[in-house]
Amino acid sequence: MQVMVSTEKGIVVKIRNFEIPDIRRVMEIEEESLLDGDAGLYLELYEEWPEGFLVAEKEGEVIGFVVVVLTLEGEGRIFALAVDSRHRGRGVGGALLKAAFNLLRKRKIGYVRLEVRVSNQIAQRLYKSRGFMEIGFIPFYYKDGEGAIMMRKVL
Ligand SMILES: CC(C)(COP(=O)(O)OP(=O)(O)OC[C@H]1O[C@@H](n2cnc3c(N)ncnc32)[C@H](O)[C@@H]1OP(=O)(O)O)[C@@H](O)C(=O)NCCC(=O)NCCS
Repeated sequence: MQVMVSTEKGIVVKIRNFEIPDIRRVMEIEEESLLDGDAGLYLELYEEWPEGFLVAEKEGEVIGFVVVVLTLEGEGRIFALAVDSRHRGRGVGGALLKAAFNLLRKRKIGYVRLEVRVSNQIAQRLYKSRGFMEIGFIPFYYKDGEGAIMMRKVL
């Protein structure tokens, strides 16, 4: 897939499928975002379901990404979402999430869930404003010992 999106906050980005050479930029963004993944894991998830890995591109540069996986229960799961810190607060994260919802709806998936750090108020606010509800808490979920809030949304 490939779409041009004009965010509500006045930035135009291309949202397209991840391609293997994008991994370098994805890892730069993921490292500055303090997510827990590594390149091997991202490439494995891409191989499992290539359509579930989307990037946002601006002027030829990858500035954000979302990775969606399908769970054994037949739900979607947002595995990772991050935007380059220089481009945050301009609607790119919201646009990537919307593209992920559309992808799942096309496959007739009814729910999407995710885990988010207890301290990550910005992401929690984004998810709540896009219809996610808190459904649980997992202590010591992250490598550094922080707990996760589980959230779920009807698509
Ligand atoms: C979470 C993240 C992806 C949001 O991306 P973004 O492009 O900045 O988000 P958007 O500009 O689309 O903003 C969407 C919502 O996020 C929230 N938000 C964004 N920036 C915010 C800020 N500085 N303060 C508070 N809320 C903020 C708002 O609720 C906003 O909603 P609105 O569109 O109704 O104003 C980005 O902050 C990021 O990469 N963070 C680090 C990685 C991370 O935490 N990922 C989520 C892991 S579960």
